[in-house]
Amino acid sequence: MDRIKKVQEAVGAILRNSLKEAERENGYKHLYGVSQACAILAMKRDENVELAMIAGLLHDIYTYKMQDSQEHAHKGSLLAKDILYSIGSFSNEEISTICQAKVRYPI
Ligand SMILES: [Fe+2]
Repeated sequence: MDRIKKVQEAVGAILRNSLKEAERENGYKHLYGVSQACAILAMKRDENVELAMIAGLLHDIYTYKMQDSQEHAHKGSLLAKDILYSIGSFSNEEISTICQAKVRYPI
């Protein structure tokens, strides 16, 4: 199974366990939409498309899991790190890249 699919499955488990159906659908649309936008930006900038897509998938995972957006960027990066380590397919450098991803401007 490819690594993006593994992250999608981990994200799906969190959304299924944390949200009601209508909210879950919005969660999928938002996270998958941001993931696609990250892929486009990465292609445009000749960056790593896979890692960018994964950063997009995980960017609001703390908010969806905990129903709390306070300090969600920092807390989310810690949760994303746990998810990526548990998947076991990413190097420390890749996990660091994903968890520290930021959008640079201008787009
Ligand atoms: Fe978001």
